[in-house]
Amino acid sequence: MDLFDSLPIEQTGLTAEQEIKALREELAEQNYKYYVLSAPTMSDREFDEKMHRLQELEAKHPELFDPNSPTQKVGSDIGKIDSFPRIKHRYPMLSLANTYSREEVEDWVRKLPAGVEIVAELKYDGLSISLWYEKGKLIHAVTRGDGTEGDDVLPNIRTIAAIPQQLSGAPDRLELRGEVLLPWERFEALNKQREEQEEPLFANPRNAASGTLKLQDSREVARRGLTCYLYYMLGEQLPGKTHSERLELARQWGFPVSEAIKVCKDVDEVMAFIAFWDTERKNLPVATDGIVLKVNNLAEQEELGYTAKSPRWAIAYKFAAERQLTLLKQITYQVGRTGVVTPVANLEPVQLSGTMVQRATLHNEDFIRQLGIAEGDRVYVEKGGEIIPKIVGKEETEITNDKLQITNYKFPKVCPECGTELVRVEGEAAWRCPNEVSCPPQLKGKLEHFVSRKAMNIEGLGSETIALLYDKGLLHSIADIYDLRQEDLATQERLGEKSAQNILQAIEASKQVPWTRVLFALGIRMVGETTAKKIAKRFRSIDALQWASKEELMGIEDVGEQIADNIVAYFADLRNLEIITRLQAAGVQLEDVRSQTSEVNLPQVLEGKTIVISGTFSEHSRDEYKQMIEDYGGKNSGSVSKKTDFILAGENMGPAKLDKARELGIKLLSEQEFLEMIQG
Ligand code: IVH
Repeated sequence: MDLFDSLPIEQTGLTAEQEIKALREELAEQNYKYYVLSAPTMSDREFDEKMHRLQELEAKHPELFDPNSPTQKVGSDIGKIDSFPRIKHRYPMLSLANTYSREEVEDWVRKLPAGVEIVAELKYDGLSISLWYEKGKLIHAVTRGDGTEGDDVLPNIRTIAAIPQQLSGAPDRLELRGEVLLPWERFEALNKQREEQEEPLFANPRNAASGTLKLQDSREVARRGLTCYLYYMLGEQLPGKTHSERLELARQWGFPVSEAIKVCKDVDEVMAFIAFWDTERKNLPVATDGIVLKVNNLAEQEELGYTAKSPRWAIAYKFAAERQLTLLKQITYQVGRTGVVTPVANLEPVQLSGTMVQRATLHNEDFIRQLGIAEGDRVYVEKGGEIIPKIVGKEETEITNDKLQITNYKFPKVCPECGTELVRVEGEAAWRCPNEVSCPPQLKGKLEHFVSRKAMNIEGLGSETIALLYDKGLLHSIADIYDLRQEDLATQERLGEKSAQNILQAIEASKQVPWTRVLFALGIRMVGETTAKKIAKRFRSIDALQWASKEELMGIEDVGEQIADNIVAYFADLRNLEIITRLQAAGVQLEDVRSQTSEVNLPQVLEGKTIVISGTFSEHSRDEYKQMIEDYGGKNSGSVSKKTDFILAGENMGPAKLDKARELGIKLLSEQEFLEMIQG
């Protein structure tokens, strides 16, 4: 029996109306998590099953029809970022009807008029994008949004080398649709880096691609290395009578079109394509989650037409995530840099999607309780779009006493590393070891964070060397790093004269790392890279920051009560003050050197002004303009309101902002006018 068969949709005791209401709410929430937060908490399959159930119920109860039901709408990512211009799609961006069963695929093919050709393609698992070309030039790159209107993320799309920015020989007006993806290799590297920085990991390449495409900093987007495949061409009076001819043309014009495309004459060819790619896809550099079948002839497509959400001339077959049953041998507990204790499942090794899996995170106490799992259970491990294997359930047998296990599960009371009693902050899922000062993994974690690339960037001091020096008693706190001597290092096994010298050089160089990054490197809880930047801008030295009140701190953008509390607590601890004194003595930058130069003395011509940036610019990037506004004393805001003094309006300003500005009579300043204003 399939695992999901044992997880029925809750129908217990609910009237159809109540069930419809519950499903609509649940699916709308999942849509929000998927499209807006890029962090879904439900598997695609479960989502589709619930959506089917809702469709079924709504069909039986037409009197309960609601145009706002998730069955009537494509999920929406609108609202996530308000600083990309919004653009209305020329043609709605629809989704595809999904199926998980090969029988349904066969049915679909068989119901088509006899002799119809079907194009079979891979279903790329990223996020859809619509590229608009006019007179051969790429002018917009619009996300799906709510299917009717999306965000123009052109500057970020321009970082994808495979997408041509200029075409020759193509029609004057052309739209290409496709999927933006983060290749597996890039995704793994990104997550590795995020793990080092204790930033939340992306669950799969799709979420990572979505998060990346919506970044404001196109340079960071470029670094992440997105890629793209195009699979659909739209426009008026385009050449080609079939979908496959158009894809071929697109390829000739220089677009990245996959080679894994087959024009199938009958159902057997379709099924052979599915069977082949179900295994072969594991060797692809990007994530795929199924096969898309499309009627090839465009006139036949027209005849078949569309439903409110999807074309009738296409269907998606989704691959089942690979799942294995294995023994949960033991639950162990890992203590991180910030003291969070994470339960880890140690499994009887099992082969899954080509790799051997023996460990999987269990996240936190609630996760374990929800699954009702315990040591000795046989559990299902799944690896679908996720590279990180996850446990999705357990084998239900007559003998297991669920209730007992669920209620009996106890998270450890004390830290497995140092024996300190664990604490659970209200509202947080995690248990934490509060012993920041002498809990070994926390100390080592702090050291690793301090030396990491985005912090002090001390190359050569990797986690192994840190562990070695820690065990030898040479490194306990970050300040000890600056007391290390050549002879301490060179005498360690695995570290010769040369690497000792390199490490010392890197330590010396780290004394030039600017205050912003030093603040991030200190590892104050929840003060990540971006927050550190904002704090360091407001408080230009550690001496100033040390005396900041909670209220002053909360006045900084992104600093909420918890972060403010953490900062105050950090400076209230004498041990931290001692570390700071030692860092200061070593020559680490604990103040902004700019405060002695002219940059902070820039004329504060924007003092007291609230400014909204909208559109795209040619002279400077959007981030640079944001920085300029702050440097000249102004305040950035994301939305137009009565408080807005003016809008720095680039090309293709979002229509919603434009309307609002007109309504409120707010002045628009062009890029040039703005530059003159600050320079003059
Ligand atoms: S065709 C009108 N072809 O799947 C049909 N979509 O669930 C337009 N997708 O929104 C879509 N690979 O983001 C098509 N070869 C492919 C695809 C593909 C991935 C995505 C796309 C679409 C979603 C539908």
